[in-house]
Amino acid sequence: MEKAYAPYSQFAVSAVARGESGRLYVGVNVENAAYPQGWCAETGALAAMVMAGETRLNEMAVMASGEAICTPCGGCRQKIREFADPDARVLCYGPEGLRATYTLGELLPHAFGPDHLL
Ligand code: THU
Repeated sequence: MEKAYAPYSQFAVSAVARGESGRLYVGVNVENAAYPQGWCAETGALAAMVMAGETRLNEMAVMASGEAICTPCGGCRQKIREFADPDARVLCYGPEGLRATYTLGELLPHAFGPDHLL
């Protein structure tokens, strides 16, 4: 979270993707003066995973401060779905520790995914 670039929202987020290999890939949110051009922490973690040569994901962890549990935004749920099965776990952390665990299927039911294009 220290590395997040969030000068506009002041809402720092970090994410860690666990690839099938067990390797961990980190991302933070990176905002932009042209607001919609920023990207989420999960997106950064997925990009790092793909650049390392992995395209399957077993778990995604997200951490943010604030009262509410920080779950991945809708766009990131779809991006995670590209590389993970509906039973993949999404772990939501606050600075104090784990707040909630979901499956991707719970967060994005009846998802469109790569199988639809077969
Ligand atoms: N954000 C993330 O990086 N991940 C999430 O799961 C929720 C939101 C970022 C986007 C933006 O930089 C800031 O948090 C406020 O929405």
